[in-house]
Amino acid sequence: MTDETTNELSEALIERLLAEMTLEEKAGQLTQFFYFAGIDAAGADGIGQGENVDQPATVEAALREGRVGSLLFVRHPAEVNRLQRLTIEGNRHGIPALFGFDVIHGLRTILPVPIALAASWDLEIIEQGQAVAAREARAVGIHWTFAPMCDIARDPRWGRIIEGAGEDPVLGAAVAAAQVRGFQGGRTVAPDRVIAGPKHFAGYGFAIGGRDYDEVDISDAQMWNVVLPPFRAAIQAGAGNVMTAYMDRNGIPATGDPWLFREVLRDTWGFDGFVVSDAQAVHNLRTHGFAADLSDAAARALNAGCDLEMVVFDPAYAHLPDAVAAGTVSVETIDASVRRLLRVKVELGLFDDPFVDEARANEVLGDPSHRVVARTAAERTAVLLKNDGALLPLDAAAVGTIAVIGPLADSRRDTLGPWVFDHDLGETVTILEGLRHRAGAGARVDYAPGIRPAQRMIPSMFDMFPGNTPVDPADFDDEAELQRAADLAAGADVAFVVIGEWQHMIGEGASRSSLELPGRQLELLQRVHATGTPVVALVMNGRPLDIGWAAEHVPAILDVWYPGTHGGHAVANLVFGDVSPAGRLPFTWPRSVGQVPLIYSHTISHQPAMQHRRYWDDDGTPLYPFGHGLSYSRFRYGPVEVDRATIVDGETVTVSVDVTNEGERAADEVVQLYVHQVHGTASRPVRELKGFRRIPIAAGATERVSFALGREQLAYWNSAVRDWVLDAAPFRVGVGGDSTVALTAAFTVAAS
Ligand code: BGC
Repeated sequence: MTDETTNELSEALIERLLAEMTLEEKAGQLTQFFYFAGIDAAGADGIGQGENVDQPATVEAALREGRVGSLLFVRHPAEVNRLQRLTIEGNRHGIPALFGFDVIHGLRTILPVPIALAASWDLEIIEQGQAVAAREARAVGIHWTFAPMCDIARDPRWGRIIEGAGEDPVLGAAVAAAQVRGFQGGRTVAPDRVIAGPKHFAGYGFAIGGRDYDEVDISDAQMWNVVLPPFRAAIQAGAGNVMTAYMDRNGIPATGDPWLFREVLRDTWGFDGFVVSDAQAVHNLRTHGFAADLSDAAARALNAGCDLEMVVFDPAYAHLPDAVAAGTVSVETIDASVRRLLRVKVELGLFDDPFVDEARANEVLGDPSHRVVARTAAERTAVLLKNDGALLPLDAAAVGTIAVIGPLADSRRDTLGPWVFDHDLGETVTILEGLRHRAGAGARVDYAPGIRPAQRMIPSMFDMFPGNTPVDPADFDDEAELQRAADLAAGADVAFVVIGEWQHMIGEGASRSSLELPGRQLELLQRVHATGTPVVALVMNGRPLDIGWAAEHVPAILDVWYPGTHGGHAVANLVFGDVSPAGRLPFTWPRSVGQVPLIYSHTISHQPAMQHRRYWDDDGTPLYPFGHGLSYSRFRYGPVEVDRATIVDGETVTVSVDVTNEGERAADEVVQLYVHQVHGTASRPVRELKGFRRIPIAAGATERVSFALGREQLAYWNSAVRDWVLDAAPFRVGVGGDSTVALTAAFTVAAS
């Protein structure tokens, strides 16, 4: 059969089903339930509705009555098949369910957390990593992931900064597209891949005060120039789904905002996939004081363009038939949404084969090549923040004794980071284990936690998953342990102190009012440092932390993020110099929480020379700039060349530079291009990233790197005219290793 005939048959099937379905059945198709077997769901999503309700039993009853179109949180093939059978038998049309889940940075094989992936500036490894995640997810029966998170985040107090690509729209767009390619394997979802669902549309990363779920205040220019570009890139890469966001923007809850879904997503960008609400977000339209009741909430969400409701209990979309009766929603609108969901199921082949091969799953989950991708990704994400006196890499031959200090150094759960549920702690390699393995018989590696794990003041919403919170060890003698750590360091040639946040301290529902190192970690670091033994700080984090003291006193700092399943091996390979670190910061690292939000691409205003003295009580510069990261090698940039001095709209200018590896070892460099539009019909940021490339350069070799700049890169949304403009204006341009590079070349866009 030709594709055309298949399409015609599929469309005929969809239309036949639509003609036969009752309104109640259609509402069921538009409902996605969590399925929380074995989990105490009473506090799920903090909605506290679950008391005395058996959540899985409620969902199974709904399945038997044909009131469900999709499920989330089911991850075991036998469970997927059992529930799929119930679904198919539960509706007289035999329509199968779509299974979705948060496969954020791996399912069994855990990759470094998303912010770390962004820090690699390496689109190939990001795509490969998410392809592994997709393969494992599909093998257990998951069809669709709620990722990538495309929210630009500029306030590190917001815990979900860890799920995104940081502060910059150009980096964010490139990383979003790479993830979509990895998850889906193309516009049409490949058989071993899953549908990608960029989220949360849109603006959620701007939560006021960094407080998760709070409202946002985003200007029109920021919305188009900063918030939307990563979503647009994800859609252009073919993402099949989009998720709504929780918060209000301009007083409109995102899930009920037709401007976002109808005007921008569908009409302007031509998105033809389906939209899902964030969990409980349709219910929330009532919570916000926006909708009068659940029927009103359902009508307003659906009318705004939200096709599918994600819900724990009691779906608002069950009230869609009432809404039709009340005249607040039309049958055509409902049909359009049902059609989208049915089309997805047809395209995935679920009508032909709704079940997953249970026997094959373990083979895919155990694939050793997946661990290699995860380890390689971790090696490529680490950022060398500081390396005085070339303390790193360690010379294996010269190091006899290594002290490894800090509870995070040997915590398997924390090595993985948040948003993992199907990991295998047994195969997880901590930093301590990785160093021991790599050092082999050559060096002695001793360990002392020094302090007990820190705890959250307010419990985590993920505490319903066992092992989420670190165990407070019994009989822990705080002073004696601190002393033992210091003694161990004193007798070693080098001390690695692992500092950071425990994984449950960052992520959803994990915002903070300070960026300090939790617990007694600073004291521990100071005690170890006082021994005089050279100290390397390894930072496990998903946001910038207050490490000012370390930056001043500790000679070497390597940001290893939450490096994933084989993270310990990756860290060992980095510190022993098997690989040179080449990750770069995807955010500006502030000196203190008082500086946030602090971004490199700010605009210029009164007394620009005083930009770094805007506070009288602290230096206004960041601790480390956006794009920063050192290498074990040294790179020299030649003069920046432009191939033409003037372009007009429709033309491009090529900016080129020679980059030479002047060091003794092969290493990657992340070549970054920044532009400043000198004047125009709006004032433009002091500099903006407009291109980057991570390239390997052999020792002594020179590589020429070129970037093309034209309308796509230089036009911006101008809120005065509410449109994209390419100003006739002079531009300055620089290429270098971080966002502080001098802008040494120039070109002009002339009026055409
Ligand atoms: C989060 C989403 C997530 C969903 C399902 C929500 O609380 O905001 O990002 O996909 O839960 O787990």
